[in-house]
Amino acid sequence: MSTHQLSRRGAQVPSSPIRALAAAARARAAGGTRVLYLNIGQPDVPTPKPMVQAYQNFDDTVLAYAPSDGFPELREKLAGWYTTIGGMRRRVQADDIVVTTGGSEALLFAMAATTDPGDSILVCEPYYTNYSGYAQLLGINTRPVTCTADDNWVVNPTRVEAAIDDTTRALVIPTPGNPTGRVLTAKELEHLVSICDRHGIFMISDEVYRELVYDGPRGTRAPSLLDIDGSDELGVVIDSASKRWSACGARMGWLVTRNGQLREAALRFGQARLSPATVDQYAVAAALDLPAAWYDDMIDEYRRRRDTLVSALHEQGLEVTSPQGAFYLAVPLPIDDAEAFCHWLVTDFELDGETVCLAPLSGFYATPGEGRDEVRMTYVLECEKLERCARILGAGIKAWSARSEGEQAEA
Ligand SMILES: Cc1ncc(COP(=O)(O)O)c(C=O)c1O
Repeated sequence: MSTHQLSRRGAQVPSSPIRALAAAARARAAGGTRVLYLNIGQPDVPTPKPMVQAYQNFDDTVLAYAPSDGFPELREKLAGWYTTIGGMRRRVQADDIVVTTGGSEALLFAMAATTDPGDSILVCEPYYTNYSGYAQLLGINTRPVTCTADDNWVVNPTRVEAAIDDTTRALVIPTPGNPTGRVLTAKELEHLVSICDRHGIFMISDEVYRELVYDGPRGTRAPSLLDIDGSDELGVVIDSASKRWSACGARMGWLVTRNGQLREAALRFGQARLSPATVDQYAVAAALDLPAAWYDDMIDEYRRRRDTLVSALHEQGLEVTSPQGAFYLAVPLPIDDAEAFCHWLVTDFELDGETVCLAPLSGFYATPGEGRDEVRMTYVLECEKLERCARILGAGIKAWSARSEGEQAEA
């Protein structure tokens, strides 16, 4: 045994449940079975050409650091984009923005600026699991407020308020949601803002999927926390290039807040890591010139996929409600151990030479035992493949149930 002991946080930080099955899936694929991946949020929509061209056009003689909070020209352009394509009513200023290495670093900075070790954040489970990873890194606790499929994943404000205690410093909530696809209405946001205000806690609104909403006229966007009255002091928005422009590898994100002190703290964290990437900021600047039609096309494509997947699942007898946004579907299954089932799908099952890799939802809950019969499906593949995924899932459920009954009969 090593005499060099890891820190508790190093030893205990959870591994990502989203990637947990990846090794088994790769091994299966190497054996000749086609694997359809619905387990991670990696969009397959082509990255916009102007972004790719920005990388190709780069010819500075020195690849230098950028300012710690990002290029001022980029922040200025982002501020303008929010009130046009971004669909915000109230203008944000360039100086409200700090450019980060993905939305991930924006989350880390926002959580670090609002909590101390021993404090806690509130999360509405099932929630984006990396919130737990950052909490572990910062020595803070996550307190879950449970939402359910039966309730269509509604965030119940009474339960949120009841979960607040002396250690609570912030509510962290994605809208549109990962993994539920739930979009908070302006009224719901108002209610949450008033609760956070009453208790003196911050609200970190993770809006990396803001354009990806499927109901309402063209140009509809998920309501932003920054448009809600009373959010100026307590509100931080997390944003990212990854999903909206299919540019996960750019590792570009930013946070936006009208709270000057909070913004300063984020900037100082930013100074400690010197600079966000340089060339990728040029790529984001190019993406900000994309016309509204580009977003309309992307949203139409994801809407088609959502509708295809939902009706294909209905055909398999699975009850799912159509999600309002993002590209995730949290699906209750008639199975009591979805983790074992997902593993078996990847290692043992196939239909016509292919199988499907899903994410068990239990890893998206902090409460032990929750989500045991649920999975997350990501609709980032073409419609025809999604239909095949639903057929594989339906056949898999039947085979798994027959297998379990067989085992019980033997016992
Ligand atoms: C809700 C949510 N927030 C933040 C992120 C972080 O994205 P990135 O660091 O690629 O910007 C993700 C990525 O999947 C996400 O789903």
